[in-house]
Amino acid sequence: MTHHSDASQASAARMYDVMLGGEENFAADREAVKMLVAHFPTVPDACRANRGFLLRSARVMADAGIDQFLDIGCGLPTPPNLHQVVRRVHPDARVVYVDNDQTVVTHNQSTVDHSGVLTIHGDLRRPQEILDHPRVRATLDFTRPVGVFTVAVWHFVTGDTAHDLMARLRDALAPGSYLGLTHACSDTMPEDEATAGLAVYGQTRNPVQLRTMREVGELFEGFELLEPGLVLAADWRPVDDDPFPERAFEVVAGLGRIPSR
Ligand SMILES: C[S@@+](CC[C@H](N)C(=O)[O-])C[C@H]1O[C@@H](n2cnc3c(N)ncnc32)[C@H](O)[C@@H]1O
Repeated sequence: MTHHSDASQASAARMYDVMLGGEENFAADREAVKMLVAHFPTVPDACRANRGFLLRSARVMADAGIDQFLDIGCGLPTPPNLHQVVRRVHPDARVVYVDNDQTVVTHNQSTVDHSGVLTIHGDLRRPQEILDHPRVRATLDFTRPVGVFTVAVWHFVTGDTAHDLMARLRDALAPGSYLGLTHACSDTMPEDEATAGLAVYGQTRNPVQLRTMREVGELFEGFELLEPGLVLAADWRPVDDDPFPERAFEVVAGLGRIPSR
């Protein structure tokens, strides 16, 4: 189970769980969220809007025939989960969840994993290890299109390697594969909120790097960005009766597809 050292330092996964109203979090996580939300009360709305994009884009992929998914930086389970949404369309859809936080992996393995749905430990900074993982290879067929998600995770990959890492992931995907991606964006967020966010997350296990619209757009190289392009998460193909209808300006979202040859 969880070690004390895990509990004493806030983590992105558990802070996100706090903001979505979950119960898989510790005092350190709730304190960090409190500091942020005291000054910037819209942050939980941004998390909900982000979650809304994930589920709407998953549905779009499933409706387009995608029945195998790779969700990197999956986080703790929040109902409805990705596999539940895509299995409404493809009851046998396979879903591989990946996270680099062992607390998340252990929890998901005991609560979410079942036939065709599994969670592995993996790091977006080492995409080849994810792609070569025996359980990933046994579950996903990379000669066919895959729906890949990197939702609210690239901003935890600091430095200038994100573009190259994304290219390595893309090169493993068949034409017709999809990429759903969201990112905390320095162009859409007020400067004082950006400064506060960087400071709070800087004290956690998961320091953050914001990127501009242009930098986020560059992660889609090799993909055709589908309508309406890269927009605020809530503006991405809104639907009636969305369980996550919140609007916020911190997170941008897009869905790309590798053109078929
Ligand atoms: C804000 S949560 C997003 C969860 C989910 N993708 C969603 O949008 O609803 C970010 C997750 O990414 C994970 N994460 C951070 N850096 C990562 C990395 N380098 N590789 C894999 N996962 C990472 C964190 O542990 C956390 O669970």
